[in-house]
Amino acid sequence: MVEPRVYQALSQPVVGHLDPYFFEVAGEVRELLRQVFGTRNEVTLAVSGTGSSGMETAVANFVEPGTRVAVFANGYFCDRITEMAKRQGGDVSRLEKPWGATFSAVEAQEFVDRIKPHVVAFVHAETSTGALQPAKPICDAGHSVGAIVIADTVTSLGAVPVNVDENEIDIAYSCTQKGLSCPSGLAPITVSPRAMERLRSRRTTPQSWYLDLKLLLEYYDGRKYHHTASSTLFYALREGLQAIVDEGIEKRFERHQRAHQAFVAAMAELGIGMHVPEGYRIPNLNTPRVPAGVDDAAVRRYLLQKHGIEIAGGFGPLAGKIFRVGLMGPLATEDSVRLFVSTFQEALNEVPSTVPA
Ligand SMILES: Cc1ncc(COP(=O)(O)O)c(C=O)c1O
Repeated sequence: MVEPRVYQALSQPVVGHLDPYFFEVAGEVRELLRQVFGTRNEVTLAVSGTGSSGMETAVANFVEPGTRVAVFANGYFCDRITEMAKRQGGDVSRLEKPWGATFSAVEAQEFVDRIKPHVVAFVHAETSTGALQPAKPICDAGHSVGAIVIADTVTSLGAVPVNVDENEIDIAYSCTQKGLSCPSGLAPITVSPRAMERLRSRRTTPQSWYLDLKLLLEYYDGRKYHHTASSTLFYALREGLQAIVDEGIEKRFERHQRAHQAFVAAMAELGIGMHVPEGYRIPNLNTPRVPAGVDDAAVRRYLLQKHGIEIAGGFGPLAGKIFRVGLMGPLATEDSVRLFVSTFQEALNEVPSTVPA
């Protein structure tokens, strides 16, 4: 759900991509992003494009032919990182776990000791499964072998602490349409000084011109034309981030936690378990299991058609096994949970069972 005050920001007059006012807004966005990412990284900005453009910015700038890349693979978006890294000529190794599982410090260390990667990549909040991967063990393991660490925070930023500096994440990227409660279209990214050093020592020019970080910095720092950024999306993002800071970043995280706890408790009352073990669940992306005999697609159709509530299903190995219920931004309240649970219960009663009577 888009934050209501963001809709107002979206209707403000458009200015050009080199207008001093555009750079003023972009500058405020950069500072607000530092607060929400939990970083002092100078190189913090919003890339024009969706979350995947943030992913591709991270991969295209830090992976070149021959770069050894270690990917922690436990869901759909790790596969996308893998594919992008291969396309950049990276030598990719993966540590595989079932969708929904997370990696321990010991597993992370053993993997990087074996691969000796230059770059490590993991997904902090895996939207396809509902699993939240602790960042610190992976960052510590990566740094112990001199690697830089990329974290996908597309689903976590704005709803869960990312703590880039505390966790020592080198590159984190995100999107605007999830925890930041804006329309899609920009990809926040932050890059540590250590990663910038690495970028400066690259042997080859990044294959992507559009997502070349050095060129992007010439635009956002040097005010030199690179591409025609949308001022409208920057107004929206500034407003979405300001709403988070106005609420209080910590308070916002706590609100998401409370909504999540209420959700899990309500599911337990219905006898429905969660796919991800306690302690590793993404609070804003809940993945209850589909009860035996329930046609999940029919339940989702019922909710959408009857109540205008859209939830997602599982896919890949989790097709038909989980629901994916977003509780983020303005929707992360106990009231929304109550509304959802009553309509969900109704759907479970109304939708015919897949098990023959
Ligand atoms: C964890 C994760 N990474 C990357 C992406 C890609 O973002 P986008 O669809 O905005 O390009 C998504 C989208 O849902 C995601 O959930």
